[in-house]
Amino acid sequence: MKKSLLILTSAAVLAVACGGAQSPQDKLTVNDKKINEIIAQMTLEEKVNMLHSKTNMSSAGVERLGIADMNYADGPFGIREEGVPNGFQSAGWTLDSATYFPTGSALAATWSEELAYKYGTGMGKEARLRGKDVILGPAVNIQRLPVGGRTYEYLSEDPILSAALALEYTKGVQDEGTAVCIKHFAVNNQETNRGSVNAILSERTLREIYLKPFERAIIEGGAMSVMPAYNKVNGDYCSENEHLLNEILRGEWGFKGFTVSDWGGTHSTMGAMLHGLNVQMTGSNYLGQPVIDSIKAGKLTEEMVDEKVRQILRVRFAIEPVPADVANTVMTSQPESQQIAKEVAEKSIVLLKNEDSVLPLKKGIKSIAVVGQNAVLKTQSGGMGAGVKALYEITPLQGIEARAAKEGIEVNYAPGYKNFPGRRWGPAPAIPNPLEAAAINEPADPFLVAEACEAAANADVVIFFGGTNKSIETEGSDRQNIDLPCGQNELVKALKAVNPNLVTVLISGGPTDLRELEPVSPAIVQGWWNGTEGGTALAEVLFGDIAPSGKLPFTFPAKLEDSPAYAMGNFPDKNAGGDLFSLMYRPDVMKMSREERQKLIDSMPKPEARYTEEFYVGYRWFDTKNVKPMYAFGHGLSYVDFEYDDLKAVAGKDAVKVSFKLENEGQMAADEVVQLYVTRVDSKVEWPTKELKAFQRVSLQPGETKVVTLEIPMKDLRYWNEATNAWDLEHGKLQLLLGSASDDIRETAEVTI
Ligand code: BGC
Repeated sequence: MKKSLLILTSAAVLAVACGGAQSPQDKLTVNDKKINEIIAQMTLEEKVNMLHSKTNMSSAGVERLGIADMNYADGPFGIREEGVPNGFQSAGWTLDSATYFPTGSALAATWSEELAYKYGTGMGKEARLRGKDVILGPAVNIQRLPVGGRTYEYLSEDPILSAALALEYTKGVQDEGTAVCIKHFAVNNQETNRGSVNAILSERTLREIYLKPFERAIIEGGAMSVMPAYNKVNGDYCSENEHLLNEILRGEWGFKGFTVSDWGGTHSTMGAMLHGLNVQMTGSNYLGQPVIDSIKAGKLTEEMVDEKVRQILRVRFAIEPVPADVANTVMTSQPESQQIAKEVAEKSIVLLKNEDSVLPLKKGIKSIAVVGQNAVLKTQSGGMGAGVKALYEITPLQGIEARAAKEGIEVNYAPGYKNFPGRRWGPAPAIPNPLEAAAINEPADPFLVAEACEAAANADVVIFFGGTNKSIETEGSDRQNIDLPCGQNELVKALKAVNPNLVTVLISGGPTDLRELEPVSPAIVQGWWNGTEGGTALAEVLFGDIAPSGKLPFTFPAKLEDSPAYAMGNFPDKNAGGDLFSLMYRPDVMKMSREERQKLIDSMPKPEARYTEEFYVGYRWFDTKNVKPMYAFGHGLSYVDFEYDDLKAVAGKDAVKVSFKLENEGQMAADEVVQLYVTRVDSKVEWPTKELKAFQRVSLQPGETKVVTLEIPMKDLRYWNEATNAWDLEHGKLQLLLGSASDDIRETAEVTI
């Protein structure tokens, strides 16, 4: 009874979202009749052959019946270079250089649904040029830990922002005739023990925070495929999680497409077959011959296989295969996508601090000292799966030099600190690179500091490039802390002492600890890993050609220990042993028999991640617990001031609607990202102090005023009621907080719902 009620609720939501028309997921079933006829002609072997990898980046079709293979490409911020059939090593192609789009946290910093859509179209188009059917992206997990290795791939700590961007990215890709494979479903919030960690969380936290981006992209965006994550959720691996895959994804959300395990993330034949997985990537040891054997043994039925094949074929029919003689005939990276990458970069840059209006750089300066290796390091590749062989990448230094040249400004560069290259895969070089650090916390190098100070002393302004790199923030491991590496703090203090006219640009995907840097740096910019045109966009902002307009998609804690999972003692897991997942690839373990391997696995400690901070993720925690962060969620300054005025709010049946006036009081065109938060008044239900519920990027000419309207759909005001196991709306008073950041509220109003 409870279950059918739930399904009805989702179906109703679906119909509303789609104006009563056929839902995006139901559209996938239009070819079912034809598909059933094809399945009837297939042998069991042909069907099972579709349930696992064919190569490292494809799964099989049925040539005899004219069904093309399914070709996959990483995602999420550029079509990954072609690899050899059975691995990730480069295939050595020449036309597979793609556009490097700004990474996930940079895209999220634009807070622009329009740009997320365009970004998706760029990715979708380039996938088609490469003959790819499915992009392994977007990557939309919530940024729970500041140290998270994949923070830069993911979007935001907030579910409403993540969901809005995930939806538009999905629509953009799929409108170009490529399918998304939205990942990693679900609760994939740490790299530590990622292949075995059991994320333990309440149903309310799961529903309100961690599932939201997936829910919107699937229900409203019609995402055609989904990648279950490596980890477990509440006891079961995501690739065989009945609750996630069968009950929620297919049952409640009406998902009609197929699921693809993360690479190496399938764990059993029966689990995968019974609990919602379609395709094992990579290998066939679970969803190959063992499926046939299990059918013969009467443990599985051929109808179960048919259903899985039907779900794959729905996507195969929705996505037109690119003929082999059409694919890869032109360069993957195209000017149109490069332009989108530039626009996203321009709108993602966040001005964190600007004391005494140090920025934009003053007209008439004659020389700039650019200090720091992050000004010259390319960020397109590294970080494991998510890397791009970019056709070109303008580094920050190149961007600044090109812009400075227009005004005859001299630019001098000094590396300032050593780069930490991270874990080395090959043998150590015979002669160590003097610009590489052996340890991440190696103190500043006196010679490099002296050289940088000399450049700084002789310049009108110093631009210091700090932050991390893609060996420090990477898939496969989390950071140990969020400290600035390799003596950057010492260096920046020395620079300030010789030239107080100092701007800091942070190049990183996630937050860093700025307690030492902030007091000595009058201007601070978060510059991200910003894609093919990142350096150009940065120079435009620094020189004031455009006003900065990015806003933080996550909180910059003052110190790591302030953030919720640390403060609650939930991370790191002190009892965790080694990661089972990495163990599986150890040569001695690979040689073991299945039984021996299982015995070893059973004897290992079982890592856990307890989410006892519940829905107090990111700013929800900082606000509720009154902990002041270094920079709050949603923060980002401009070169102009915006005036908020005349807030009006009404609560209707389906939505709360607000309107207000927004004025650009400055002398240049600028964008503001307006943010609407909600606080519950006299509530009986537990809520965070405030939650983002709507936002919009607004462009204004100098002096222009616009009337802006925002809407909060009533369904976004519901909470997950654990007593009834359903969404519920708590009626009562709501305070609406309108502002420029979560800690910069300009206008308030009250409504009753
Ligand atoms: C990552 C996925 C990626 C896959 C294929 C995995 O290690 O977790 O995000 O799509 O590899 O490269």
